[in-house]
Amino acid sequence: MFDKISTTYDFLNHALSFGIDIHWRRVAAALVMDHYESNKNNKCSKFSMLDIATGTGDLLFAILKNKSAIEFNVTAIDLETSMIELAKKKFANRRMSDFFVDFRVADAVAVADPEYKSESFDIITSAFGVRNFYDLDRGLANIHRMLKMGGQVVILEFSAEGINPIFKPFFIPYLNFFVPFVGGLISKDFKAYDYLNKSARSFPCGEKFVSILEKANFLDVKMIPLTFGLVTIYIGKKR
Ligand SMILES: C[S@@+](CC[C@H](N)C(=O)[O-])C[C@H]1O[C@@H](n2cnc3c(N)ncnc32)[C@H](O)[C@@H]1O
Repeated sequence: MFDKISTTYDFLNHALSFGIDIHWRRVAAALVMDHYESNKNNKCSKFSMLDIATGTGDLLFAILKNKSAIEFNVTAIDLETSMIELAKKKFANRRMSDFFVDFRVADAVAVADPEYKSESFDIITSAFGVRNFYDLDRGLANIHRMLKMGGQVVILEFSAEGINPIFKPFFIPYLNFFVPFVGGLISKDFKAYDYLNKSARSFPCGEKFVSILEKANFLDVKMIPLTFGLVTIYIGKKR
């Protein structure tokens, strides 16, 4: 599905969110940099990061805007070749040769040893990715497996169910009607934008997703709701 909408994906993301998605990824990137800053002194090698469901790379680029991300050794994976190709193109156009990113087509739910070793990443990120996993528990177990001890996961996801009740009467019709209609019209794929709306609304959010992360053995799980609860960033540690 993401393959079909890849060419209009970035434009629609920014247009349908009125550009607020840039702010959401910036906040997630700041959390990544905080984790790096508070752990960099214990490290003698580069800081290893995995961005899952990287898509066209917007979370990745928000992170790489920080100068100290030059110290990162980044792997970015996505299920769709077309999304990864667009991310690679953006990376090349931005002339970021000082940074290291290994772009790969891979299924985050199924990646396994030896290619994706256990305890190999200091930080694992995903923006609007995990709700698309065909097996959420297996995907989260894999994220936990690949994190090093002391490592952190940063997940940004829709949390439509948790929107502040005052704003629900505005956001829900917007998600139910406007997004599928305009998204479908521009991408020429009504099914995809109908899926986007439905998956955003049905994804377990807030305390529910905190418990899911705790069940997946993440510790110190915290949630940071943004834009009246429309999206939430979740962080958790492996200890
Ligand atoms: C909504 S896009 C998010 C892209 C990007 N992270 C962003 O912030 O815009 C979701 C992406 O998840 C990818 N995806 C879905 N299931 C996946 C899986 N099992 N493993 C890796 N990527 C997956 C899709 O191919 C798609 O590119």
